[in-house]
Amino acid sequence: MDASPAPFVPPAPKPRGGRPSFLQMVRIVYRNPLELWGEPSYNEPWIWIGAALNGPLLIANDPGLIRRVLVDNARNYKMAKVRQRILRPILRDGLLTIEGEGWKRSRKAMAPVFTPRNIHGFAGPMLKKTLEFAARYEELERTDIARDMTGITYEILAETLFSGQIAGEPDSFGKRMDHFFETMGRVDPMDLVGAPDWVPRFTRIRGRKAMAYFRAIVDGTIAMREEAMARDPRSVPKDFLTLLLEARGADGLTEDEVADNIITFIGAGHETTARALGWTLYCLAEASWERDKVEAEIDRVVADVPDPVDWLAAMPLTRAAFEEAMRLYPPAATISREAIEDDRYEDLDIKAGAQVQIMPWTIHRHRKLWDRPEAFLPERFHPGRREEIDRYQYLPFGAGPRICIGATFALQEAMIILGVLMSRYRFDTLPETRPWPVQKLTTQPEGGLPMRVTRR
Ligand code: HEM
Repeated sequence: MDASPAPFVPPAPKPRGGRPSFLQMVRIVYRNPLELWGEPSYNEPWIWIGAALNGPLLIANDPGLIRRVLVDNARNYKMAKVRQRILRPILRDGLLTIEGEGWKRSRKAMAPVFTPRNIHGFAGPMLKKTLEFAARYEELERTDIARDMTGITYEILAETLFSGQIAGEPDSFGKRMDHFFETMGRVDPMDLVGAPDWVPRFTRIRGRKAMAYFRAIVDGTIAMREEAMARDPRSVPKDFLTLLLEARGADGLTEDEVADNIITFIGAGHETTARALGWTLYCLAEASWERDKVEAEIDRVVADVPDPVDWLAAMPLTRAAFEEAMRLYPPAATISREAIEDDRYEDLDIKAGAQVQIMPWTIHRHRKLWDRPEAFLPERFHPGRREEIDRYQYLPFGAGPRICIGATFALQEAMIILGVLMSRYRFDTLPETRPWPVQKLTTQPEGGLPMRVTRR
């Protein structure tokens, strides 16, 4: 008899019945786009939402179609308008928002920044920051794990970006940054209804002062580092800032692009990982039989494998739990594009100007692609089974030429954080732990993740 308990089914909106009115749709998209999708979005290979905001919208769930858009005919798809309207004023010519020839040049110039050698070089600073964080943790009857994970990934990012050498007060930098992304990153109703650019976006006006202040700190930090490099290039740390400054040149990054990419890494590179970590600890706490397996693996690795560079390869079960949490709660819930010219996939015509949404959220929960899609089952990603998953049905980091450049960084970081924290502490849910996934810039737990932390 199979003695394993029934799998844990974590909270998620039920597919919506009926068609919302235009106004309802705007309200849902503003509040939580994850609540918008009806049964067909979780069942069909693709659907057209004809009278959608900003023109015809194609929801692409079929792995073959996704491959067509993101890889085989990627040149025919640019970043979608709404995405760019929200992100470009913040990230400008950073890699996430730059397009065309500029993107090609930047991506090439930044390849040396993300070599395995450099990412491995970050394992030491990641471990150091995690140990400092763990030493402060102690036992806590109740703490918000969502907030704690944002804290630790932020500290790691500040260390790997600047080695802590920030112009001004490092503490106020963290606070300003939170405020900056919170005010700037909101979807403005004016963007959703496709209002022209001259219509003021009230959600963004508030963020302008925060942006000016934040940009000034980044510029000051860069100037400080350039001075140090000019004095003695060998004295500066090999962090992201130095690597980006070294990527400048005729075919490389411009001065402004260095700043834009620093801001892009801050925007793209810590909250995403923090969300995935929070959801992982939550799912493992609710499925304690899975947590037992992960804790056993971590205890072994932390004791036997001294170099944290090797932890990612040495922790397949921990990685599987993390990947399964990203399946259920993809930090980036939507990948959106716009067709430049007409395209055709099988019997599907995609007209120029059509918006194409590839949604890890619905693809990862698609009834035809997954067995028990709503259940937390890390074994799907265990070695030997992982190969059964189609490359284009699991997309936490996207795919094709614009695949996340920080994926290995994020995975290495996640294994180090889980390794250190879970070897020392046990994370349990409380009666009030009832997170509700909400899509903002990332997939966040509304109400946070209140949990108890006890020493193991
Ligand atoms: C679990 C953590 C992360 C997740 C889930 C994630 C997810 C993604 C996704 C889905 C994309 C593709 C977007 C698209 O095609 O429209 C992307 C792109 C990108 N990510 Fe990440 N990311 C993570 C961590 C990071 C980190 C740590 C960094 C930097 C240190 C980073 C930097 C970027 C950049 C610069 C791009 C743009 C790449 C390009 O367009 O060429 N990400 N990320």
